[in-house]
Amino acid sequence: MKTAIGAALTVALSLASSAQALKILMNNDDGFGSGNIRELYRMFKEAGHDVLIVAPATQQSAQGGRADYTTERNLTGPTQYDIVPAGMPSVGTDPHDSNIWYYNGTPAACTFVALDYVLPRYYPDWGVPHLLTSGPNFGVNTGPFVFTLSGTLGATYAAVERSIPAIAFSASNPSVPFFNVTNSSNPATWVATVSFNIAQEFIENTGEDQAILPLGYGVNVNIPDLDSGAMPPVVKTRLTGDADVDIAVYNETTGLFHYDEIEPKAAGVNVCYNGDCGLPGETYVVDGGAVSVSVFTVDYDAPSIPYTDLVFAKVNGLVDGKNETGGYNLKSKRRSRRRVVGRDVLD
Ligand SMILES: *[C@@H]1O[C@H](CO)[C@@H](O)[C@H](O)[C@H]1NC(C)=O
Ligand SMILES: *[C@@H]1O[C@H](CO)[C@@H](O)[C@H](O)[C@H]1NC(C)=O
Ligand SMILES: *[C@@H]1O[C@H](CO)[C@@H](O)[C@H](O)[C@H]1NC(C)=O
Ligand SMILES: *[C@@H]1O[C@H](CO)[C@@H](O)[C@H](O)[C@H]1NC(C)=O
Ligand SMILES: *[C@@H]1O[C@H](CO)[C@@H](O)[C@H](O)[C@H]1NC(C)=O
Repeated sequence: MKTAIGAALTVALSLASSAQALKILMNNDDGFGSGNIRELYRMFKEAGHDVLIVAPATQQSAQGGRADYTTERNLTGPTQYDIVPAGMPSVGTDPHDSNIWYYNGTPAACTFVALDYVLPRYYPDWGVPHLLTSGPNFGVNTGPFVFTLSGTLGATYAAVERSIPAIAFSASNPSVPFFNVTNSSNPATWVATVSFNIAQEFIENTGEDQAILPLGYGVNVNIPDLDSGAMPPVVKTRLTGDADVDIAVYNETTGLFHYDEIEPKAAGVNVCYNGDCGLPGETYVVDGGAVSVSVFTVDYDAPSIPYTDLVFAKVNGLVDGKNETGGYNLKSKRRSRRRVVGRDVLD
């Protein structure tokens, strides 16, 4: 398997000379000083892409898709690793790289601040980014819980909802500040290398003038423990399947709760209604030492199957103004007048 992937990568690298230079917006939830994001940033730049980081000023893990904006104009404390001191504006750049921005808010807030403030004001030529990447996170994000809990994913689906293709990368390596990455033989560089190779596959296999992903689509990539920058096996996966979900564990002595993973695994978090039920779950695959690539959409509607009809049927008696097809002529015209914005979100 490794050989096949090696061959595929060689093909990808030989195509790279003709590759398009993309505008890539980067975000994460570990903070703008993370060694993982800085290494991936370096690799994207070396490949010729236009790259911009707009990421949280501090560690913002487990914020999910929450868009939380600071109420302070200036930083009340220093940013992560004292890169920027207290008193400086709550949105600004790294003193050593004006294309690395921080914002004192959650990951999803950083995505929006990037799209609605940093890009239009400071990079008017950019237009809409071709791709947003989030991470690589310190710690894997496997299973459906990522949609409510993971800030890495929150940054991603915020972009997807704004019509921008997005890929989340999460890995198993411990947290390291960028200034402690001093050689190319360390986990942050390995994780960034694997992430870069996967991102490049998406880029290389997209025609010029085509979107990297279809509208509403995102990708969730998880990387197992690595002991080198070599590409592990890559497996197409689904979010559900062997996925974990939390329980609250009560401590009689302290009167406090902490979380643990439910055992045996819960059926609810592992149903398969959408997608290919024959694919293995990403949790299982990453635990087994392979890279998982899952595809999601932000259309959370249940599929059109009898179960859904059964659920809808329960409100039939309440549905007002229904005609024989169950339709309803909305009085408010607001929805129909709303413009559906596609890739022109910033225009
Ligand atoms: C914020 O910082 C700027 C300098 O960067 C300063 O001019 C301004 O007075 C500060 N504002 C507040 C509310 O502290
Ligand atoms: C960076 O590396 C130095 C030297 O190994 C270590 O003392 C320090 O704790 C590291 N910093 C962080 C924030 O991990
Ligand atoms: C590279 O850096 C890592 C820590 O970041 C260290 O453990 C390793 O020994 C270094 N390798 C070389 C060849 O200097
Ligand atoms: C409850 O908390 C106490 C104090 O932190 C700890 O010593 C004990 O091991 C905990 N009990 C369980 C069952 O985890
Ligand atoms: C039923 O309602 C739907 C949705 O408003 C509408 O498109 C359809 O034309 C209606 N059918 C009839 C027979 O009124």
